[in-house]
Amino acid sequence: MTHPLFDLSGRVALVTGAAQGMGRAMAIGFAEAGADLLICDLNEAGAQATAEHVRSLGRRVVATGTDITDIAQVHDLFATLDREFGRIDVLANVTGPSTLARPEDLKLEDLERIVHGLLIARFCACQEGGRRMLAAKKGSIINLGSIGGVTALGRGNIAYSAAMGGVIQMTRELSTEWSGRGVRVNAILPAQVINPGLEQRMQEDPHLEAMFLRGIPMGRLGRPDDIKGLAIFLASDASAWITGAIIPMDGGNLAQNAGGTPGKSEG
Ligand SMILES: NC(=O)c1ccc[n+]([C@@H]2O[C@H](COP(=O)([O-])OP(=O)(O)OC[C@H]3O[C@@H](n4cnc5c(N)ncnc54)[C@H](O)[C@@H]3O)[C@@H](O)[C@H]2O)c1
Repeated sequence: MTHPLFDLSGRVALVTGAAQGMGRAMAIGFAEAGADLLICDLNEAGAQATAEHVRSLGRRVVATGTDITDIAQVHDLFATLDREFGRIDVLANVTGPSTLARPEDLKLEDLERIVHGLLIARFCACQEGGRRMLAAKKGSIINLGSIGGVTALGRGNIAYSAAMGGVIQMTRELSTEWSGRGVRVNAILPAQVINPGLEQRMQEDPHLEAMFLRGIPMGRLGRPDDIKGLAIFLASDASAWITGAIIPMDGGNLAQNAGGTPGKSEG
C-alpha cells in the first residue's frame, strides 16, 4: 500500500518534454500516483506514445506538440489546459535547450537562444501556471535544473550552465514570493542521466563516461526512472512544507569535492 500523502488522485499535472527521458518518467510516475495529465513535446508522436501508456493506467491525458521555447505556444498550451482540465496542481518544467561551445567561440545568438528557452520561456510557463495556482491557493512547480547550475562543468557548457544558474535563482525567488500563498516551487538538479544525446557523445569520446563516473561516487550514471520518486514527492502533499529547495539527484556528485576520491565497493 502506498502512503496517502503521496496520492495525486484528482490532481492535474502538466509535464514538458514528456516523449522520452525524465519528462516521460515523471509523467508516468504522476499518473501511477493518480494524476491526470497534460503533456507536451516537440516530438508529438512521442508525446502521444507516452499518452497511450498513461491511458493504459486509467488516467486522463492530453498530449500536444508544443515547442516550450516559443512564448505564443506556451500561452496556447495553458489555453488547452483551461479548456481540457480547468485546473493545474503540478507544473513540471522538464525540457530545455542546450548548446556546446567554448566561451571564446560562443555566438551571442546561441547564448540568447539558450537563455530565452531555459529562463524566459520557462519563466512564462511558471507565470502562467503560478497565476492559476495562486488563484486556487495551492500548487507545486518543479523546475528541472542541473548540477551545472551550481558548479562549473567546463567542456563548452557555459551557455547552458549560466542559464541553469538563472533557473535555480528563479526557483528561489518564485518560492519566496508565492509559497505564502500556497504555491511551492522547487528544483531538481540531475547529474548525467542517460539519454540518446549523451549516449552519442559517449560513443564519440570513449573517455567521457569514465570522466563522468569520477564525479559520481555511487558509481553509475543516472537513469530516467531515478527521478520518479523525488518528482512524486515534490508534486504531492508529502512535501507540504518543502519549497525553494534545490535538490540534487546526482549519485552524490555535488557532495564530492572535485579532488575527492570516491570509495570503491570491496570484492
Ligand atoms: N540528461 C541529463 O544528463 C540532464 C542533466 C541535468 C539536467 N538535464 C535537464 O533535463 C532535461 C531533460 O533531460 P532528458 O535526459 O530527459 O532529455 P531527453 O533528451 O531524453 O528528452 C528531452 C525531450 O524534450 C523534448 N524537447 C526538446 N526541446 C523541446 C522543446 N523546445 N519543446 C518541447 N519539447 C522539447 C525532446 O523531443 C525530448 O523528447 C534536459 O533538457 C536538461 O535541461 C538533463
